[in-house]
Amino acid sequence: MRLPVLVKVYPTWSRIGNGDTVGYRTGWSDTLMESVVVEEPSVAQGEPLLAAREVTIAFGGLRAVDGLSFDVPAGTIVSLIGPNGAGKTTVLNSLSGFVRARGSVQFQGIELLKQPAHRRASLGIGRTFQNLQLFSDMTLLENVLTGQHARLGGNVLLDALRFPMVAAERRARVEAMELLRYLGLERYADRRAGALPFGIQKLAGMARALAVRPTLLLLDEPAAGLNRQEASTLGELIGELAREFGLAVLLVEHNMRLVMGLSDHLVVMAEGRKLTEGTPAEVRRDPAVIAAYLGQGEHAVSDQEVQNELSPRS
Ligand SMILES: Nc1ncnc2c1ncn2[C@@H]1O[C@H](COP(=O)(O)OP(=O)(O)OP(=O)(O)O)[C@@H](O)[C@H]1O
Ligand SMILES: [Mg+2]
Repeated sequence: MRLPVLVKVYPTWSRIGNGDTVGYRTGWSDTLMESVVVEEPSVAQGEPLLAAREVTIAFGGLRAVDGLSFDVPAGTIVSLIGPNGAGKTTVLNSLSGFVRARGSVQFQGIELLKQPAHRRASLGIGRTFQNLQLFSDMTLLENVLTGQHARLGGNVLLDALRFPMVAAERRARVEAMELLRYLGLERYADRRAGALPFGIQKLAGMARALAVRPTLLLLDEPAAGLNRQEASTLGELIGELAREFGLAVLLVEHNMRLVMGLSDHLVVMAEGRKLTEGTPAEVRRDPAVIAAYLGQGEHAVSDQEVQNELSPRS
């Protein structure tokens, strides 16, 4: 979805990063629009951008994901929720090509499960990780450039080695800086990623995922470890990426406030299987979902606590 260039002032990013002030997002430039906004997704009207069918992933005898089917329509936020060990990260790993899966996943009409892992970013799938996985000895800018590298299939770095600052590499740097500026991270561009506060590293992970110019963004617990203010700011960003940049998002997240506030649709997993799916309002009322969150023995929580956890709070 191509959008007109908007000039907005966002004063909302000032609190990300463990109390460290990060500066302000100042607007969207042409370069940013070209950096983030992808081609119109090539799916027919009404067809899902991603259609997973009967996806099964086994580790030895354990079926971590068992016959899971779900859709992600273009430009929507779909959340994958469920208790610890339900198989959510494993689903994302199968979409990124890190684990082998049986079944079928159509992405813009292409059978994703047959694509080598290194091609999936260039098809338009960006990803963040539950446990960060930034290159800690690289600068933030270099980390974002690895996202572009994934998209361009190595040309940027190869060119950079042969002909320092050739046009493609220069362009990649301009785009990467534009992304960092958008996220309020510009001033950290040359800092070593590993030395930066956790909240900033998490945002940098988003920048790297966006650098592949995704049509689909896979986010694995983006709010984990963030404080309430940071999580809410992150929610604003994710919402904006979907509503204004037209990205589809598959969100794995335990922060129910964020999930219920952001999602168009929820898929609930437990023990590798789909328990149910529906709108946030439908899922919140579903007794099976409430039961799946109850736990047993010393981990047991009351129905009321579960209901509270599943209710969006303002
Ligand atoms: N590489 C692996 N080898 C063996 N078992 C694995 C592997 N990865 C995941 N598992 C198992 O698969 C199951 C699902 O794990 P997964 O990490 O997908 O859960 P999750 O829903 O993301 O949980 P959480 O909310 O705690 O992140 C778990 O039982 C886990 O131990
Ligand atoms: Mg996980």
